[in-house]
Amino acid sequence: MAGQMSKEKKPLDVICLGAAVVDIPLRPVSKNMFEIESYPIDQIKMTVGGDAMNEATIISRLGHKTGLMALVGSDPAGQFIMDACTKDAIDISTLTVDTHIDTSINIGLVTADGERTFVTNRNGSLWKTTIGDVKFEKFKEARILSLASIFNNPLLDGPTLVKIFRRAKAEGMMICADMIKPRLSETLEDIKEALSYVDYFFPNSDEARLMTGKESVEDVADVLFGCGVKNVIIKNGKHGCFIKNKDQTMVVPMAKDIKALDTIGAGDNFASGFITALLEGKDLETCAVFAHCTAAISVQYSGATTGVQNREQVEQMIEQYQKTYHPDKMEENQ
Ligand SMILES: Nc1ncnc2c1ncn2[C@@H]1O[C@H](COP(=O)(O)OP(=O)(O)OP(=O)(O)O)[C@@H](O)[C@H]1O
Ligand SMILES: [Mg+2]
Repeated sequence: MAGQMSKEKKPLDVICLGAAVVDIPLRPVSKNMFEIESYPIDQIKMTVGGDAMNEATIISRLGHKTGLMALVGSDPAGQFIMDACTKDAIDISTLTVDTHIDTSINIGLVTADGERTFVTNRNGSLWKTTIGDVKFEKFKEARILSLASIFNNPLLDGPTLVKIFRRAKAEGMMICADMIKPRLSETLEDIKEALSYVDYFFPNSDEARLMTGKESVEDVADVLFGCGVKNVIIKNGKHGCFIKNKDQTMVVPMAKDIKALDTIGAGDNFASGFITALLEGKDLETCAVFAHCTAAISVQYSGATTGVQNREQVEQMIEQYQKTYHPDKMEENQ
């Protein structure tokens, strides 16, 4: 098995901690839209988003009991998120609803040639999430804590993450984490101690390079491993991922011939696939294959949670993956 995790039966498998927001993509818009009095486009529709929401959705669809730990307001956008949770069987006893907060709504402006900018609420729930919204009493009820992205909720800074992770470890949880690029110029130094609690860390190669100041993936992984991360998994888009732990380094290639249509949420789908396989006691390479195959489905559809609807899709993709890379093993299994 890839790491230590409580085998005790618990009400939840995983708690996804981070952002749950409403996204309103507007496309296509033009850069001179202010010159036009009324600007019609074909569709304006709310969708749920946010790293923790995306992960919770996909892990739940892949068959595990998932709690969403995030802050939302007591407003229609918050209700929309809760309704989406109900639809996808996501536990919301872990969610905080605050009457004084507006649920974060992100308006995405996208031009016909794919340039995009986001209008966000700097006082929305994503920016206001604090350690007070972390329901520690729920930690004993789950096996894995997934911190959906370090740096996404700015008030969950390095020292705060240390407090959260210590409590998670005291409850015997395994800790997984992804990251985004720092919003407030935070550095590796700020999160070094927090990283020492992380069992599986999934940065992409650009983020990890920026963070460590190193160029080669080996050097980047060495630095992160040196911070105490037990398993460093550096994602590199269509090129696969590089993994380092105390026993080994390995490259796990991406599924071949995947035509990416929209890579939004690819990282969240990767983490969801990886965590699903971890919960099932799979070895490290199998977890990475599961992650790639989940992301491979996601990138072929527009939106973070449109692609992966059920487990069978991922299993079929894994079968195809094994045929490409391990045809010998396939025969053994027949
Ligand atoms: N162009 C692509 N073709 C095929 N697979 C892809 C492509 N881009 C991403 N993936 C898959 O998605 C995973 C995550 O993508 P990436 O390495 O871009 O991470 P990320 O930058 O964290 O994603 P995100 O933009 O969601 O934060 C990859 O490891 C791979 O499995
Ligand atoms: Mg990412």
